[in-house]
Amino acid sequence: MSNKVTIIAPSNIAFLKYWGAIDLDSVLPANVSFSMTLSRCVSRTTVEARRAEGTNAIQVVDASGELIDADPAFATRVEGHLAALSEALGISGSFRVATANTFPSSAGIASSASGFAALATAVAALAGRETSLEELSILARRSGSGSAARSVMGGYVEWPGKADDAAAPARQLKPPEHWELRDVIAVVSSEPKLVSSRDGHLLAPSSPYFVRRQELLPERLAKMRTAVLERDLERLGRAIETEAVELHLVAMSSSPPIFYWKPETMEVLHCVWGLRDEEVGAWATMDAGPNVHVICEPHDEERVVAALGELRGVERLIRDRVGPGPRRSDEHLF
Ligand code: DP6
Repeated sequence: MSNKVTIIAPSNIAFLKYWGAIDLDSVLPANVSFSMTLSRCVSRTTVEARRAEGTNAIQVVDASGELIDADPAFATRVEGHLAALSEALGISGSFRVATANTFPSSAGIASSASGFAALATAVAALAGRETSLEELSILARRSGSGSAARSVMGGYVEWPGKADDAAAPARQLKPPEHWELRDVIAVVSSEPKLVSSRDGHLLAPSSPYFVRRQELLPERLAKMRTAVLERDLERLGRAIETEAVELHLVAMSSSPPIFYWKPETMEVLHCVWGLRDEEVGAWATMDAGPNVHVICEPHDEERVVAALGELRGVERLIRDRVGPGPRRSDEHLF
């Protein structure tokens, strides 16, 4: 078996957001989350297993397409995940890792979700063991990126939280073919966010709205599930916009407060609301960043793209859609 594997793994956009943890080190989420796996926002990750123990080499592809050493913070995170994966899969030796994203990192498009889902899938393949998607979900979250637990599966994915079983893996509610939703991502800033999701999870319980939010989530999840099962975009859209605003309400009312939105975020939101006045089915959600994911059906995509494309505050649009889980590729990064 080859000692080099390349995996392309997708990012995902959370409809119901993981925000706050029972135990952040073990990545036990305080609440259930629910996401749509994306198709074009992906990480390509090549991992080479070396027999000899020694230091790992962690690289990223820079803007000009060159492989460069990863920055120390990212390298440390990858090292930690490699150690956890090696222990869980019973493998020894060191690794060379290189990774590239098709989209800006750390700007509220889950680059750690796709990157760590790719890393876990690649190392499991190198270990040569049959690994179920449930096992991969549990392995991927050991990176510290909870959203990576959902990115090992395609389509519409639920990840249980405290009320069910916080240690459980994610599970697919429906595959991508069930409902071909689009996600037009309005990038208003490609700058790395100032407060990491990890810090956001830590601060979340300091918001006076955190506990109330936990009470509201079961009903919201039920609405989202039914909406997806019945392909009812208006029902889903109302729930995801409420949810997105609530996540940011909790962030903004944490102590100290976290503001991920920029003025341009509001500009995009007003545009989306205006589109709905014109009978376009467009609904917005934002993860921990200022960029806005606009969810719509294929027949409305062009109108959404045209309207968002005219906004001064939008740097660029990424046209994405629901997609499958990770896959192997023969195009290695080194
Ligand atoms: C707002 O701990 O998974 O995106 O470290 O960026 O992967 P990363 O974040 P993670 O928290 C995700 C927070 C969120 C909501 C979500 O994806 O559920």
